[in-house]
Amino acid sequence: MAASAPDPALLARLLERLGPRGFTADPRDIEPWIVDWRGRVRGKAVALLSPADAGEVADVVAMCAAAGLPIVPQGGNTSMVAGATPPADGSALVLSTRRMRAIRAISVADGVAVVDAGVVLADLHAAAAAQGLRFPLSLGAKGSATIGGLISTNAGGTQVLRFGPMRSLVLGIEAVLPDGSRIEGLSALRKDNRGYDLRQLMSGAEGTLGIITAASLRLVPAIGRRAVAWVGLSSPQAALGLLRRLEAATGEAVESFELVPGDALELVLKHIPDTRAPLTGGHAWHVLVEATAPQGAADPADALGVVLADAIEAGEAADAAIAASEAQAEALWRLRESISEAERIDGMAAKHDVSVPVSTMPAFIQSARVEVEAAFPGTRVLAFGHLGDGNVHFNVRAPAGVDGMAWLAGEGASISRMVHDLTVAADGSISAEHGIGQTKLAEYLRLADPARLRAQRAIKAALDPQGIMNPGKLLG
Ligand code: FAD
Ligand code: MLT
Ligand code: ZN
Repeated sequence: MAASAPDPALLARLLERLGPRGFTADPRDIEPWIVDWRGRVRGKAVALLSPADAGEVADVVAMCAAAGLPIVPQGGNTSMVAGATPPADGSALVLSTRRMRAIRAISVADGVAVVDAGVVLADLHAAAAAQGLRFPLSLGAKGSATIGGLISTNAGGTQVLRFGPMRSLVLGIEAVLPDGSRIEGLSALRKDNRGYDLRQLMSGAEGTLGIITAASLRLVPAIGRRAVAWVGLSSPQAALGLLRRLEAATGEAVESFELVPGDALELVLKHIPDTRAPLTGGHAWHVLVEATAPQGAADPADALGVVLADAIEAGEAADAAIAASEAQAEALWRLRESISEAERIDGMAAKHDVSVPVSTMPAFIQSARVEVEAAFPGTRVLAFGHLGDGNVHFNVRAPAGVDGMAWLAGEGASISRMVHDLTVAADGSISAEHGIGQTKLAEYLRLADPARLRAQRAIKAALDPQGIMNPGKLLG
């Protein structure tokens, strides 16, 4: 059903408040921001708003609220679930934080950064490093993903093992609620028990409860030395055994432990320029391990080398290489972080982001793979990612020669139901770190506990009674 045309007077008032840099209704300007990162979901937007600061956000949200005009908050538009893509009926506008990029303050004494929501993750990394500190969350989209988007999806990434997901690094938020009122919560406090925790409520809310305009974030001391290794092994079970061996020997030194199947490495080597295999000989599975140590502590490569040698001796690992330089370490990380891009180039896949208890993940990967590939001949499972967190991207590649989008809507949807049913049967979650957005919505509504949904809908109705914040996402 086509949405009713927006009131031209409202659009004129929005333009007047934001100026020409902050408002466009030209479809050519809007075009890049109405398609999701994977290029699978296309929406339509009345206009693209790009406010410069929190005051502008509050004013335009109040104007939209008064008119009942829906708003889709958008940061870097790297959502894996089309969370920042507007609805197809053209009923909403997109509000982008792209112009809100100030790093307001970094306090070395408190280990806190206060940043605008539109700050890109890599820019925060650089700013923290310049002060001898670190923001300990990273992921492949770090060059585009913003702080507001990372909080709103409660993003995971590759350091969750040691530092937890995004919400564990958020000390406070400043936000505009759906009625245009503002929460001023840029706290530097490590402890604060004044009732319901609004910063945690906004973390993972996927833009459905308001617009985050800034956040105060926890920083940790910069890494003194790091050791990055690439290990070839025979199974996810062997990989988990290696993780436990590493933890026993090095305590909390291991902060990343990423599972890479042989097929994923092949895709990266095929599609991503200037990449090469770190080990000779094909291995069915690999892991990328990063261990770190503070300034002045022993080189973590020493302990890592000893444990890897023991693991090879015990038959748990087949081969391993430890990066001998920062350039080599970066090259290993590039292999891991390019998997999504290589997969996107290669063709269609039904993508899943599942978690189960860590100890059961290896068996889950093996048995679910056998079941899916047997039920859907010609498909191939590519399960990669955050094994140490009990979270893998259990992606199922389409058979050769099919029409990708038609396959995704038909057989792909049946596959997703099967993967999610298996996940629920294993006491898992169908969204470990990407959120629900649009693409997981039907499955979430099919599988969620009714009491959980009722509680989530009550929160949504209390804060956004008109339902104008990111309609069609998370709860429908
Ligand atoms: P967007 O995509 O713009 O938005 C995401 C959601 O947040 C939407 O619902 C949007 O409405 C909302 N939103 C955005 N900004 C605000 C705001 N200021 N206030 C309120 N709501 C807002 N995720 C992981 O968890 N782990 C990974 O390892 C990982 N790797 C990735 C690798 C690649 C190559 C890519 C493309 C994505 C990856 N992601 C990963 C997905 C991840 O969700 C995003 O990268 C990131 O969290 C989204 O940030 P963004 O600024 O692009 O947000
Ligand atoms: C990753 O871990 O690389 C991401 O979450 C991206 C993906 O799922 O494709
Ligand atoms: Zn991931």
